[in-house]
Amino acid sequence: MRDYIRINQPCIDKEELRAVEEVLLSGILTDKNGMGPRVMEFERAFAKFIGVKHAIAVSSGTAALHAALLAAGVREGDEVVLPSFTFSATAEAVVLCGAKPVFADIDPETFSINADTIGRVLSSKTKAIIPVHLYGRPADMAPILEIARERGIVVIEDAAQAHGASLGGKMAGGMGDMGCFSFYGAKNMTTGEGGMVTTSDDDYAEALRAIRTHGESRPYWTVRLGHNYRMTEIAAAIGLVQLQKLPRMLERRRENAARLSEALSMIGKLSIPRDPEGGSNSWYVYTVRLIGANAGRRNKVVEKLRSKNIDAQVYYETPVHLQPFYMERFDLRAGMLPETEKASRQVFSLPVHPMVEPDDIEYMANTLRKLIR
Ligand SMILES: Cc1ncc(COP(=O)(O)O)c(C=O)c1O
Repeated sequence: MRDYIRINQPCIDKEELRAVEEVLLSGILTDKNGMGPRVMEFERAFAKFIGVKHAIAVSSGTAALHAALLAAGVREGDEVVLPSFTFSATAEAVVLCGAKPVFADIDPETFSINADTIGRVLSSKTKAIIPVHLYGRPADMAPILEIARERGIVVIEDAAQAHGASLGGKMAGGMGDMGCFSFYGAKNMTTGEGGMVTTSDDDYAEALRAIRTHGESRPYWTVRLGHNYRMTEIAAAIGLVQLQKLPRMLERRRENAARLSEALSMIGKLSIPRDPEGGSNSWYVYTVRLIGANAGRRNKVVEKLRSKNIDAQVYYETPVHLQPFYMERFDLRAGMLPETEKASRQVFSLPVHPMVEPDDIEYMANTLRKLIR
């Protein structure tokens, strides 16, 4: 039997090992104010990569979202508009601020929040909008930014899956007021666990730095409520190496996605992912939708692919608004977000990460072809 083709896999080699060893021997494993030398270097390099003025390293993508919402002043009584077709952390960060998550439906083509549906759920309490660049494909940002600018609403991009994606000459994470990244082990680049907030706004940057470390503006001087959301020097050292490797890793993902698209486009019966017009996908995962007679067979197809050692995954089988905590707490029910609910029944994702080889792509395409004939 063929080796299992994992949905995502970290690309770690001697460079990361050496970088970690250096940190361990340096005696500086972290720094009280998140100002360790590697953390600062990683922040500078990441800000440059995204094309923003500031990057603030934190301990996870969830911490990045929570800190960004807090920096934007989101609190009890506020509403935040976001898609339900996302990882629960996007909504969790809103609830952690004491605010109410208000879910808008998605565009069936891009799977990202749809600006028209945002218009329908805005209220005088809306403080922020969180577009999620799902699967690495940038959300259609222009109409979202227009709605937000007109009403003075903050836009926080959830770019947890979109390192290196771009649209209209800007990088994901550099289009809104703040961008939030995850460096979880499965992401396009990783530090094991970790996150980053990007922004060009000096005030947000200052607030984020304080929130990251107990609300301190200087050591032992707390000016607001904060957290311990610091990134370790070990994580930052890995992140620096990963960031250098990111363009090469993205290229591999793009090649794999193009190869898979070529092989799958001949099948029909499937809707396949594309780059957005005037932009590029970061190909976190390659997500297809079963259409026509196969539309109801998603779980069967995924099960079969797994039995053939292809780690097909469903992101996300249960949209956030239908998860028990959110349904009960916010009085939500099935039928509220038709496109989200339909997509959650029809999509599944295939691996295109840098360790996937051309013959893996061929094997995946052939296996899938037989299953949906
Ligand atoms: C869309 C999205 N948002 C937020 C997160 C949270 O990131 P983390 O796991 O680093 O906390 C993730 C990843 O896990 C994600 O995929």
